[in-house]
Amino acid sequence: MIDAYGRKITYLRLSVTELCNLRCRYCMPEDGVCKKRHEDMLTQEEMLAAVKAAAELGITKVRVTGGEPLVKRDILSICRGVARTEGIEEVCITTNGTLLPELARPLREAGVSRVNISLDTLDAQKYAYITRRGSLEEALRGIDAALNAGYDKVKINTVLIGGFNDDEIPALAELTRKYPVDLRFIELMPMVDSKDFGPEAFIPCDLVRRKLPELETEPQDNGVARLYRLPGAQGRIGLISPVSSHFCGTCNRIRLTADGKIKPCLHSDQEFPIKGLDYQGMLEQMRAAILAKPACHGELSAQSLSHAGRSMNQIGG
Ligand code: GTP
Ligand code: 5AD
Ligand code: SF4
Repeated sequence: MIDAYGRKITYLRLSVTELCNLRCRYCMPEDGVCKKRHEDMLTQEEMLAAVKAAAELGITKVRVTGGEPLVKRDILSICRGVARTEGIEEVCITTNGTLLPELARPLREAGVSRVNISLDTLDAQKYAYITRRGSLEEALRGIDAALNAGYDKVKINTVLIGGFNDDEIPALAELTRKYPVDLRFIELMPMVDSKDFGPEAFIPCDLVRRKLPELETEPQDNGVARLYRLPGAQGRIGLISPVSSHFCGTCNRIRLTADGKIKPCLHSDQEFPIKGLDYQGMLEQMRAAILAKPACHGELSAQSLSHAGRSMNQIGG
């Protein structure tokens, strides 16, 4: 479907749970989420009906997100169901990777073709600090498992945080020489949970270009990252700059939260509930959400927080 600004909406981000086994400081509060009532969350049947409705409106790609999607008990049957939905050509997943050692292969068999894994540092102590509880070794084992499970593509997502990992830009970029992975540096978005970061934490992706002058420009795809490559590297470097240079003009996505709200824009508090609706009702809400998709989000900066109205773990990025 085409939205009110002529953008073709083809990509659904499906958040299957708000829960996570980590607590990244820019994403969710330390004490986790106040657990919602089970009956307020979408059932697997409702998720699959919503994906069917989305496909009827022209969605061809679904990215499964969380929280952490792999903590969801029925994650394999959700992915299988999404992959079998008529019109859905691609099922991808974004994960922190820690549960991939057990799940990389079953997910691949369930029809997931690409996986994006979060990794903000290569230092074990810093990893434990930023995730408040994670183990770097587990995350690295997850990346390894994904690389061995036959995915079409494995990407690593690194949120750039000034004073935390800007000194690791070259080391993280080196991963694209060692492994067939794309590594994307993402500007820290000012969500409610990033409000404790000082202004120095918000650094633009241009810093990566300055620290890696040898980067060569690559042909662009229709994703949110500007693409580059270190000479001779197996994988690409992507720069995702939602803060310094937004990409709203070419945005092709909508989101569905685990509690059943269609979000036409990550940084808007507009939400279209579908929980409890029949298929026709879902279709109508989805159509309304696409037509209400704003042209652009407002300013984002350390002083100007996102209007998302939720923590990132309740949206799925
Ligand atoms: P690909 O399918 O590989 O292109 O994945 P992706 O980049 O769309 O998804 P991923 O879950 O890996 O997200 C990478 C980063 O981009 C995360 O920090 C997301 O929050 C951010 N992101 C994804 N979509 C949007 C968007 O529409 N707007 C903004 N501002 N950020 C987004
Ligand atoms: N700014 C930028 N990226 C974020 N993510 C989570 N919170 C933020 C934020 N405030 C990223 C995660 C993951 C993806 C889903 O979104 O690191 O890679
Ligand atoms: Fe969990 Fe991902 Fe949020 Fe970290 S960024 S707390 S891994 S949902």
